[in-house]
Amino acid sequence: MLQKAGLIASFVAYAFRLLGELAWESIENRYRQLHSLTRPPLTEHDEIRNIVIIGASYAGYYTARAIASNLPPKSPYRVVIIEPRSHFHFTWVLPRFCVVGQEHKAFIPYGPFLKGVPEGRVRWVRDQVAKVDRDRVWLEKSREQIPYAFLVIATGAGAAVRLPSRVAANTKNEGVALLQDMQRNIKEAQHLVVVGGGAAGVELAADAKHRYPEKHVTLVHSRKAVMHRFGPELQAAALQGLDELGVETILQERTATNSIVEGQITLQSGGRIKCDLLVNCTGQKPSSSFMAGLAPEAISPTGTIHVKPTLQIQDEKLPNVYVCGDVAAVGIDNPNARSAIRQGMVVGYNVVRAATGGSPTKTYKPFWGEGVIKLTLGLDKSISHVGDGKTELWWQSKERNLDLMSAEAWKHLSVKPFEDDDKSEKQAE
Ligand SMILES: Cc1cc2nc3c(=O)[nH]c(=O)nc-3n(C[C@H](O)[C@H](O)[C@H](O)COP(=O)(O)OP(=O)(O)OC[C@H]3O[C@@H](n4cnc5c(N)ncnc54)[C@H](O)[C@@H]3O)c2cc1C
Ligand SMILES: *[C@@H]1O[C@H](CO)[C@@H](O)[C@H](O)[C@H]1NC(C)=O
Repeated sequence: MLQKAGLIASFVAYAFRLLGELAWESIENRYRQLHSLTRPPLTEHDEIRNIVIIGASYAGYYTARAIASNLPPKSPYRVVIIEPRSHFHFTWVLPRFCVVGQEHKAFIPYGPFLKGVPEGRVRWVRDQVAKVDRDRVWLEKSREQIPYAFLVIATGAGAAVRLPSRVAANTKNEGVALLQDMQRNIKEAQHLVVVGGGAAGVELAADAKHRYPEKHVTLVHSRKAVMHRFGPELQAAALQGLDELGVETILQERTATNSIVEGQITLQSGGRIKCDLLVNCTGQKPSSSFMAGLAPEAISPTGTIHVKPTLQIQDEKLPNVYVCGDVAAVGIDNPNARSAIRQGMVVGYNVVRAATGGSPTKTYKPFWGEGVIKLTLGLDKSISHVGDGKTELWWQSKERNLDLMSAEAWKHLSVKPFEDDDKSEKQAE
């Protein structure tokens, strides 16, 4: 009990510290902006210098805003965002929308989050980075080369992953179609096998069984417990939730092949399960291969990129390259959006400092409170959980909204839920 009280106290203290940090940063930035007003204006001989950000999901989009809105008015720098997607993908609700619909809510229009940023300060490029050199990035589709003064890598861990963890499509139309296909496939299946017992697998299996109680739903997971990146109390609660719904959970097992043969899937132990639909919830891998030519030593065996506490890449030759979010090796067991955002703020702060003649001083230290999770267990129940590796706090809630916190996510990104005039979509096609 005492331990739990300590956990609550330090969680609250953290929230206040974060508020204090944010307030202080905006004061410091105001000061710097005023200070820079006294500098001579740019002349046509001053070249525009690019701060290139690769990827605009949680880490990259927040970094872009932090930098673009805090550069001093006459700064010679501008932000170039390189992102192939037409919309921000709200990952948290994907397993739910694979089952129930409402899929358009997972695609949040880009743009309004950056309103208030001075004209011309941000350039959006709808493309993918294929390769990075010492002073430029190379684009995949247009073959354009974009020089950079600073580079921020925020490419996450979802490039090779499909539903329900990521949407393997760049336009909203294609993404919506993929989600609708999945809904149809689940609806038509009689024997659904879900592989991977992390959050996405547990949530999808539970939702599918809740919506279609007559179907057989089996969850196959290679570890001793589902939700193995979290504490034992959450593992047990998740397993119990699955049991109560009637999901069959098979632990310490893997599938032998990825294909269904004669209506069955074979396990490595030799066992067979009836299966007419296999949903793969594994395989997230950091997207860092485009860095292999420039900084091979900084890439870890799992694909994350080693960083210094300032989130500069761990390579003395590249002090102007920063990494944040799921692709950064910051020592987090369960990478999550909150820590990706906080890393984005740290990178934003450091880049603005470096671009205004200072040195990067802000450091990122993981905090267990960032890993707080709300795990759904069927359509009307969830467990909120936080743990520091020793003690866990969790509580169960009734869920009323099928779309979970979609509206909040839209508002958070300055977009009125669920209005989308889809201009970017028309440009894309
Ligand atoms: C089902 C599910 C539920 C989740 N629920 C939660 C939750 O409740 N709470 C929480 O905090 N976290 C949650 N997460 C985790 C969260 O989604 C991730 O931690 C977060 O998405 C990481 O953000 P990121 O910006 O680092 O990378 P990503 O979100 O992976 O995005 C990377 C971006 O980079 C772009 N990109 C990749 N390669 C390139 C390239 N070569 N060139 C240009 N652009 C590129 C991609 O298009 C993408 O936009 C959940 C994840 C899943 C899958
Ligand atoms: C799931 O997807 C990953 C990544 O693409 C792949 O490596 C793995 O073999 C797939 N597993 C199944 C069971 O399909």
